[in-house]
Amino acid sequence: MSRLPIILASTALLVFGIGWWSIDRVGKAVDRQQGEPTRAEAPVELPAPGPEPAPGARSPDPPAPPKPEEPIYTEGPQTRDGTGKYYMGREIAFVMGHQAINWLERSNREDEEAPSKAIAALALKPTDVIADIGAGSGYYTFRMAPLVPRGKVVAVDIQPEMIEFLENKEKKLGFNNVEAHLGEVDDTKLPAESIDAALMVDAYHEFSHPREMMQSLFRALRPGGRIILLEYRAEDPTVPIKPLHKMTEAQARREMEVVGLKWQATHDFLPWQHFMVFVKP
Ligand SMILES: C[S@@+](CC[C@H](N)C(=O)[O-])C[C@H]1O[C@@H](n2cnc3c(N)ncnc32)[C@H](O)[C@@H]1O
Repeated sequence: MSRLPIILASTALLVFGIGWWSIDRVGKAVDRQQGEPTRAEAPVELPAPGPEPAPGARSPDPPAPPKPEEPIYTEGPQTRDGTGKYYMGREIAFVMGHQAINWLERSNREDEEAPSKAIAALALKPTDVIADIGAGSGYYTFRMAPLVPRGKVVAVDIQPEMIEFLENKEKKLGFNNVEAHLGEVDDTKLPAESIDAALMVDAYHEFSHPREMMQSLFRALRPGGRIILLEYRAEDPTVPIKPLHKMTEAQARREMEVVGLKWQATHDFLPWQHFMVFVKP
């Protein structure tokens, strides 16, 4: 029997099968290319054309990093009577404790400092409201009170013992226009625009937070109101007071002006102290 038909049929089947498999593989490869674009085929966004840099031009500097805020207070060497806390280059003195009331009330104070001349130079009006900041025992408070019969003296201090002393003294002397007022180290606690003037005698240099205190006092002043600052003259070595309890006029001006006060005058008619006047514009 001839095997030829069987061989021919097998060969035809083999050729047909190989052809079909090849067509299917190529078709799938084409499908893959067309249906799933590769990364390289995804649309590319081109940057917008910019101006041509000038020949030799430097590329612009990167923006400067923001400057860190200067601290208001810094620490430094702690000298005798000092806190080691510095403000605008000045070391802040320690607060004088209420135990020193007798020194504030000393009988020879008029001879040494002439407080009566300082009070006369304030030229107070009978209706004035004046704050005595760092009033202590009220040496100045009770000498100003008779001059403002239709106004008042607000005596501000941070030591409750001083406040108690002031209240007892007011009763003893029979005044009704003195208000003892407890403040905080960084806040006078006076209402805004409530005073015509403020007096600070031998107190400012020991404020532990002078910037905040002066900002608070600035708010409490009426526009046009005055601050009168009495500090022992640091320029004068013959003034017998410890160095940290004295101030130069230049330093005092810097510290008042930084909160927005305007210097008006400095008078040196007192034996030991500068009499400096600043105004709230
Ligand atoms: C050396 S005494 C002067 C008292 C008064 N001015 C005199 O000349 O008789 C300073 C006073 O300032 C007060 N004092 C200190 N820091 C203060 C602040 N932040 N606010 C108010 N008074 C302050 C002290 O408690 C102290 O009674």
